[in-house]
Amino acid sequence: MAHEVFHYKSWEDIEKTALEQGVMLPRSSNTDVLKAPLPIGAHTAHNRIALQPMEGTDGTESGSPGELTIRRYRRFAEGGAGLIWFEAVATAPEVRASARQLMLTKDNLDDFRRLVSEIKERGLKKNGYAPVIVMQATNSGRYSKPHGRPEPLIAYNNPLFEETPLPKSCILSDDRLKAYEELFGVTARLAQQAGFDGMDVKCCHRYLASELLSAYTRPGAYGGSFENRTRFLLNAHRSAKAAVSGDFFLTSRLNVYDGFAYPYGFGVEPESGLAPRLDEGIRLAGILKEQMHIPVLNITIGNPYKNPHVNRPYDRGNYVPDEHPFVGLGRMMHCVGEIQRAHPDLPVIGSAFSYLRQFSPELAAGMVEQGLCAMAGFGRMAFADPEFPNKILSGKPLDAPCVTCGGCAQLLRAGSPAGCIVRDREKYSLEVLK
Ligand SMILES: Cc1cc2nc3c(=O)[nH]c(=O)nc-3n(C[C@H](O)[C@H](O)[C@H](O)COP(=O)(O)O)c2cc1C
Repeated sequence: MAHEVFHYKSWEDIEKTALEQGVMLPRSSNTDVLKAPLPIGAHTAHNRIALQPMEGTDGTESGSPGELTIRRYRRFAEGGAGLIWFEAVATAPEVRASARQLMLTKDNLDDFRRLVSEIKERGLKKNGYAPVIVMQATNSGRYSKPHGRPEPLIAYNNPLFEETPLPKSCILSDDRLKAYEELFGVTARLAQQAGFDGMDVKCCHRYLASELLSAYTRPGAYGGSFENRTRFLLNAHRSAKAAVSGDFFLTSRLNVYDGFAYPYGFGVEPESGLAPRLDEGIRLAGILKEQMHIPVLNITIGNPYKNPHVNRPYDRGNYVPDEHPFVGLGRMMHCVGEIQRAHPDLPVIGSAFSYLRQFSPELAAGMVEQGLCAMAGFGRMAFADPEFPNKILSGKPLDAPCVTCGGCAQLLRAGSPAGCIVRDREKYSLEVLK
């Protein structure tokens, strides 16, 4: 398929093309539904707009927030989102996704504390409320690049990813997995001390916990059965839970569909190739709710490296998908909606709302109004226009939306500070990659 270029002038245009593609996108012009507060455990998000985690590759060598990190979160804080899902923060030096990925340690705790408190204060001062802030704790697993080059730590060799199998030393033993589970406890305690309201045991986009969900072929305690494949995630939750107290909550950003054929993808129909099959995702969400007592769940799908169109539909990029972006968007909304429908008492945050640009508020309102998610989570839009939540909440048009050019992702992949090359040109440009 040739590159699609977003050319829609109205929702009617969008609906016509979506219908031709066999896709129904929920829509409501009553964006006031996004103004309703949402209780999350002992906390309350002031509205239904969430900022999804967006790594900036702009930390210091030791993992503290750098100048650009602080600038990003100052802008996000003032933008008016009810919840900020703070980007991936590494649980150990060797599992950082880049040499500039944030990493929370006892030595830099004060740097994080200062930033979290500034986010709260700025939100309160500008908008009259502070956002709920969840920190995403990560083990980058196969995407570990602590020195700027790949140093993969994998759950199993996967011929869809590795033409030549990686050496045995890259495959994490059960004992190493156990040690990594424990580190989520160490990080959770620090996250609470830093002032975050909650912590996400990251389980998406094929980072370690997410890759293990599809470890059908791995022998031993972490492969094969559903119980084994979810062991790491659930043990990491247990370890985090034991390390925190009071109102601090735990949650996950969960891939319920990988988009790779069985036996290499979680959430796929084994017989029919790539169709989503969500029974295990629904079951896992239920366990997280009932046994781990999470008060909110963030749902996503796909892999930003191998099938980015599934993860974040876009117009232009290095990789041309063989499907219309509306098909990707429809799949994402379907997966989010099925999890929310199966667990109506667990607030679900949906992903990938940015593709529809100035029309995305009506998609967000449609999803929330129809009970298909409790909050709409935006990623790239926040880089393009950090004020977008306030614009939506006050009924103003989104006049500087993300154009899904993929520039921010290109910067991220190259290990450069990531931001919007279109709307924030003074700070970000692809020139640095030349
Ligand atoms: C530059 C960049 C950084 C990202 N960093 C993270 C991250 O730290 N954690 C995560 O779970 N997802 C991350 N994502 C994925 C986004 O949170 C989001 O799921 C994706 O961009 C789709 O949403 P959107 O269409 O609203 O942008 C990142 C995406 C981009 C483009």
